[in-house]
Amino acid sequence: MDYSIESSTADNLQTECLIIGVFENRQLPKMATALNQQYNNLIDTLIEQGDISGKNAETLWLNYFPEHPIKRILLVGFGQADKIDRKSFRKALAAAAKALKSSKLKSATAALTDIDVPQSDNTWKIRQIIEVFNDTLYQYDVTKNIEDNKITLQHLKILADNETLSTAEKGLQQGLAIARGMDLTKQLADLPGNICTPSYLAQQAELLAERFENLDVEILEESHMEALGMGALLSVTRGSRQPAKLITLNYRGASPETRPIVLVGKGLTFDAGGISLKPGAGMDEMKYDMCGGATVLGTLQAAAELQLPLNIIGLVPSSENMPDGDANKPGDVLTSMSGKTIEVLNTDAEGRLILCDTLTYAAKFNPEVVIDLATLTGACLVALGRVPSGLLGNDDALCEDLIQASEVACDSLWRLPLWEEYQELLNSNFADIANIGGRDAGTITAACFLSRFTEDYRWAHLDIAGTAWRTGQEKGATGRPLPLLTQYLLNRANA
Ligand code: BES
Ligand code: MN
Ligand code: ZN
Repeated sequence: MDYSIESSTADNLQTECLIIGVFENRQLPKMATALNQQYNNLIDTLIEQGDISGKNAETLWLNYFPEHPIKRILLVGFGQADKIDRKSFRKALAAAAKALKSSKLKSATAALTDIDVPQSDNTWKIRQIIEVFNDTLYQYDVTKNIEDNKITLQHLKILADNETLSTAEKGLQQGLAIARGMDLTKQLADLPGNICTPSYLAQQAELLAERFENLDVEILEESHMEALGMGALLSVTRGSRQPAKLITLNYRGASPETRPIVLVGKGLTFDAGGISLKPGAGMDEMKYDMCGGATVLGTLQAAAELQLPLNIIGLVPSSENMPDGDANKPGDVLTSMSGKTIEVLNTDAEGRLILCDTLTYAAKFNPEVVIDLATLTGACLVALGRVPSGLLGNDDALCEDLIQASEVACDSLWRLPLWEEYQELLNSNFADIANIGGRDAGTITAACFLSRFTEDYRWAHLDIAGTAWRTGQEKGATGRPLPLLTQYLLNRANA
């Protein structure tokens, strides 16, 4: 999809389809008011007739305007004008994008910046239009023939007033960077485990680094990990035929003295559970266990496209977790890079094992903050469902910054406590720490485990087990939490 800004007005506009908003209670935004006058009270009449009421996410196609420069109009309900918020604005946008998705149109023009959204400026609105349209119109086609139902829409023009062109341009740049970042994240995540292996992820990181002068990549092989003493990471990959990789992306947008923001993403390209084998039903979805890693790649791409004045390091430990004669066994004791020993009570709690050595490694970059993203626990789905990602961390200010960014980005987070009282659940008789904490509070004890390796810096952990992909009929990656991370980086860049 292409996106552009256009500054036409209602009377000189030419388009295959004009998308405009309507409100409930017979109120009309600016563009609808103008067209209503131009078209002899068309919209008022449709509302009067009951064809559309303006309820949020309602849509109505008007398809026949002979000899008129606007060929079609798509009316979209935004609900009551004074009740609109960021979420309902996005919900209406998604309904509009869905209507276009099933049309045969190639291009359309969105006149939607005349909808007032509290605490949100023109830049934000344009960015959201691009994000929501691009997300809704995403189509996976790598291993599937989609010729017969390929989405036709290719170009979206976004109308902006002449006075707001500079803020619109900024929204376009941010929207494009976020949308393309999410595309990359989703594409990698949706690929099957037999294509998207750790080596494949590493290659993609190399391709990404080739595109930007100030983005470098380094791939650590298993021999390097051995030399570094990464016994926990290496133990997870022992049961796999695929070599593990530790990807480092280094984006240099600020002076070398500026301490970097480090993003760490879990990159399990398939998690079968290992010897503690997972049940068969739904196991295919464990190809998504690399969503944290894919989000790190997408976020670094977005940061590099925006040339943010920050230094950012992306770390992606990547491996498979498979059952095998040489795999980790329950009861095995490992020595991590930090020197701490770990008793593996369940080989399916592998994410924390590959993350803990990466978090130890992260300290060498002298980070300003470290944020890890991981599809870490099924317990997070039990606690929070698929709406917010779980947030835990050792620094209140960092957690607050992330929550604030998540609200603006409409990519929600909910914080869970990382209290001292939970730590003892990880006691082991045979090692410094056990890799599971029993049935209670699984998301918290997983974060407690990670916290033992992050004591030297400000750290936050996002458990994205419920938010990184959708299950069922709509199965597919979401690209989350890329929007919130990019918003956090934008906020940092402006601070
Ligand atoms: N990748 C899974 C977590 C997961 C499960 C995410 C289902 C999304 C949906 C992780 O490696 C895992 O298996 N965690 C275990 C931990 C348990 C053994 C303490 C889990 O959640 O069952
Ligand atoms: Mn697992
Ligand atoms: Zn896993």
